[in-house]
Amino acid sequence: MSTPPHTPDGVKVWDPFVRIFHWSLVTCVLTNYFVLDDGEDWHQWIGYAASALVTLRIVWGFIGTRHARFADFFPTPTRLRAHLAAMRTGQAAFHPGHNPLGALMMLALMALVLALGATGFLQGTDTFWGEEWLQELHEWLGSALIALAGLHAAAAIVMGRIERTRLVTAMFTGTKRRY
Ligand code: HEM
Ligand code: HEM
Repeated sequence: MSTPPHTPDGVKVWDPFVRIFHWSLVTCVLTNYFVLDDGEDWHQWIGYAASALVTLRIVWGFIGTRHARFADFFPTPTRLRAHLAAMRTGQAAFHPGHNPLGALMMLALMALVLALGATGFLQGTDTFWGEEWLQELHEWLGSALIALAGLHAAAAIVMGRIERTRLVTAMFTGTKRRY
């Protein structure tokens, strides 16, 4: 998991599905939060598309390529403790896939997207139509998602600097390279 597999050519980590999933999800979430935020049809379809992407990603987490699998990066307490200890001593190990903290964030972001899909759907049902608490919950989940996504993007940039690896570029090219 944390052996240093750097080669001059970099390490192939993210398959095309993971990359397309990531940037499509980012587009859906940002569009729904910043552009189409009054619940119109497009907002609903794009919100469901985001939930569908996450659902596919969960399936891919079981059958996908090596570093896309949950087994490769699931943030178990042991992995988290080891990662935090390594960070404290200033020697965060290189992770070809997600590091345990990044993985924890990824799971939180995906859970929030699914919760937005569920609360969005419920707002349109007869039972919950016009329920203010549900609208507020939906809005709160949206804000939490954007706040965590900001932290996630900042962490990707900072960790990339610390590990001297272009993590964001790797989400486009699929290859982690050291500089
Ligand atoms: C990525 C997923 C989503 C995000 C980030 C998101 C975010 C938001 C935000 C920020 C608002 C404005 C809240 C306000 O200012 O009152 C909103 C409203 C709304 N959303 Fe979503 N949403 C998502 C998915 C969905 C889905 C899947 C549905 C329904 C199928 C939905 C239905 C609605 C409706 C009906 C409103 C209007 C609520 C009201 O009248 O206050 N949303 N959403
Ligand atoms: C709404 C915004 C965002 C959401 C919901 C989101 C969600 C996610 C998810 C679910 C993953 C896991 C990918 C997988 O294994 O399939 C991930 C990874 C990643 N994201 Fe984002 N992301 C967002 C914005 C961004 C932005 C703006 C950047 C660029 C600065 C970014 C950079 C990355 C990187 C570099 C990784 C891989 C980290 C690693 O090497 O372990 N993300 N993101």
